Amino acid sequence: MPTSQPRFGVAIMAAGKGTRLKSKRPKVLHEIGGKPLLAHVIHSAAQIVSPQDIVVIIGHEADKVRGAVGSTGVRFALQAQQLGTGHAMMVAQEALQGYDAVLVLSGDVPLIRPETIAAMRDFHLKHRAAMTILTAIPADPYGYGRVIRKSSKSAEAKAIVEQKALSKAQANTREINSGIYAFNAKDLWSNIDRLKTDNAHKEYYLTDLAAMLVKAKKKVVAIPAQSAIEVLGANTIAEMMDLDRSFRENKTRQLMAAGVSIYRPETVTIDAEVQVGPDTIIEPFVQLLGKTRIGEDCRIRSYSIISNSELASKVTIRPGCILDEASVANGAIIGPYSHLRPGSDIGENAHVGNFVETKKVRLGKGPKANHLTYLGDAEIGSGVNVGAGTITCNYDGMNKHLTRIEDGVFVGSDSTLVAPVTLGQGAYVAASSCITEDVPADSLAIARSKQTVKEGWASAKRDARAAAKK
Ligand code: UD1
Ligand code: CA
Repeated sequence: MPTSQPRFGVAIMAAGKGTRLKSKRPKVLHEIGGKPLLAHVIHSAAQIVSPQDIVVIIGHEADKVRGAVGSTGVRFALQAQQLGTGHAMMVAQEALQGYDAVLVLSGDVPLIRPETIAAMRDFHLKHRAAMTILTAIPADPYGYGRVIRKSSKSAEAKAIVEQKALSKAQANTREINSGIYAFNAKDLWSNIDRLKTDNAHKEYYLTDLAAMLVKAKKKVVAIPAQSAIEVLGANTIAEMMDLDRSFRENKTRQLMAAGVSIYRPETVTIDAEVQVGPDTIIEPFVQLLGKTRIGEDCRIRSYSIISNSELASKVTIRPGCILDEASVANGAIIGPYSHLRPGSDIGENAHVGNFVETKKVRLGKGPKANHLTYLGDAEIGSGVNVGAGTITCNYDGMNKHLTRIEDGVFVGSDSTLVAPVTLGQGAYVAASSCITEDVPADSLAIARSKQTVKEGWASAKRDARAAAKK
């Protein structure tokens, strides 16, 4: 091991179109685990070097790709025309000046773990190699480049041969090239311009450097990754879905190891960045997406979809709820079939029930809105009871207005609250009222027409009908 660590730069190849996907979206922006392929690769690389030491090579739909991952702080090199993986590295050369060594990752090999990149780097340094190839032995090697070793037990490789160029003898080789490498910078840059395009695709293959370096008496070594799955590429939608499944499996296993109960985990979809506290129970067919954070002792019942939301502890989400950018405090009970839209801030021990929709709403402690209600642009205090069928009329066709319901208010069923309007502390609203003016504290507002009763009206009608039939 050299005494002073050489400086490593990282190149991530992400300029290709992904023709085999048959999709308009650039390949590296397709998602697994709720995150673009490229974002996974950048995340792993950023555990090894700092973001400004990472150069992402972009080309196809470059602006979209840059826009999707630009906030990570990586640098970019533009490969306007995609003439192959070797050409991608030619384009990145200038941005990678000043580094002693270069790690090359593929934007379409998303499950690579930082530990594996580090193991390859250390192996590369230990062997003082010019090039180190990360390999694997997957169940089906078809389609991948194969690594031809000097002998089966040797760490040294002779060449990488692409699927279409395999000879009959080489076709049995099961060790594949992952498309992930370490290079000594000098050896890489002094040979990269010698690549040729005399192959099936008429492209510059980075893989050709292996044989080229061996010919120049340089050392090329190959190290297998611990598990094949983390170096598998995503060239087709089906392959991506396989990687997604494997990613989700990993995620649920991690959460279960941290004390979360997940029933039928194969039916549950949990994104990369989701956090869940111990003793929380997740039932079958739940989706937890984006940056959702869930505390301890919660129960998330089946068929709920929770995105970018924050749940404190002891929260119950009953079946069939949709939460989007909502926050729910300790002990609240939501659902079944509630829809909490962005800006819903549900207080401690609140009950939000069947077919209730909320948006930009602050609910205090312990209010109840249990049935068939819309609460939008509202501030609702503690201990409020919102009767079935209550509607905040927040929109006048042009602007949104605020409804304020102070502590302890009782809103009778089927009331419409035409905003802007305030219901003062402790006030009552009679059922079926249309409230257009503020209601002072501790008063009763009735805003409906008075009931009239016509005695004998029904029997008189029946008698008249019977007489007409005779
Ligand atoms: C490549 C390797 C193959 C290996 C496989 C592993 C070559 C020639 N072959 O094949 O040995 O088994 O990866 O997954 O390298 N890219 C660019 N610019 C280009 C072309 C590609 O940036 O001009 C990017 C792509 O966006 C992709 C990566 O490089 O992220 C790999 O390209 P791809 O076309 O998928 O190579 P494979 O055929 O998979
Ligand atoms: Ca590929």
